[in-house]
Amino acid sequence: MARPKVLATRPLFPAAQQILNASCEVDYWTQPERISKEELFRRIADKEGLVCLLTEKVNEELLAAAPKLRIAANVAVGYDNITVADCTKRAVAATNTPGVLDETTADFAWTLLMAVARRLSEGEALARSGEWKGWDLDQLVGADVWGKTLGLVGLGRIGRAMARRAAGFQMKVVYYDAVRAPLDIERGYHAEYRDLNALLSEADFVSLHVPLLPETRGLLNAKTFSQMKPTSFLINTARGQVVDEAALVEALESKKIAGAALDVYEKEPLINPGLKRPNVVLAPHIASGSLETRTKMSCMAAENVVALFKGRRPPNILNPEVLKAS
Ligand code: GLV
Repeated sequence: MARPKVLATRPLFPAAQQILNASCEVDYWTQPERISKEELFRRIADKEGLVCLLTEKVNEELLAAAPKLRIAANVAVGYDNITVADCTKRAVAATNTPGVLDETTADFAWTLLMAVARRLSEGEALARSGEWKGWDLDQLVGADVWGKTLGLVGLGRIGRAMARRAAGFQMKVVYYDAVRAPLDIERGYHAEYRDLNALLSEADFVSLHVPLLPETRGLLNAKTFSQMKPTSFLINTARGQVVDEAALVEALESKKIAGAALDVYEKEPLINPGLKRPNVVLAPHIASGSLETRTKMSCMAAENVVALFKGRRPPNILNPEVLKAS
């Protein structure tokens, strides 16, 4: 029997290649630059499977160019790049990679939190500059992390991993979520529920852990920034569009908040020049970027593809209704 043809828009990692190559004929995009839209549309024309990144849009336009496609496997947990309803209409399964990147993403959100509180970017620049004159009493004094209040916007898997880390820093944890967590979860994570306004006015660190949805787009905006404390910091490892970036720049300029540490941006890879200031730590969307985790994410995407072609339910299917239809 002919092996299903799959397009992978990156070479992935060896372990994921092994999984895919065992049962599929895979066309890997191996060029250092990203696959262009034209090339993607040209290569997808005869493919039954796609392994894609969050930088590729899977929508009606792409699906129309991929008449044989049966699965689009995102190598990411966030799938705002995929219009799932469009996939469902064309009976294309859509999958993501939940669960394997929670701890790694929380590690990085914590890295950002510590870096902005303790002015690491400024300190590193000074240490490298040749201008450092030695220890000084008031040099680059930052803010304590331990004992402060962490405000988690979203208490899903990554939010909970953040709450666990906060315990080691003797922090108070407050959280907001569209759906309040059950009491045993709140108790287990020592996380107290607040409505968003109360959280923003109480937290020393506000860390975002919500998916990008119509309800979370611009959740942090001019109005909500004005509720934050002037000594507080914003950490964003979720999606750039959860924050109104122009309002964030204004909040930083007018000192409504003390600083921000960002891994994601409204218009990646563009970074609003107003964010390039000393009290903002900037990272290039690498929160899940450990070798172990990116390997697991790639393998998970590969396994979803293989499962579908073997007639099994892809473990991370987002639109299971397409399976019933076929
Ligand atoms: C990365 O941003 C992801 O959603 O996995």
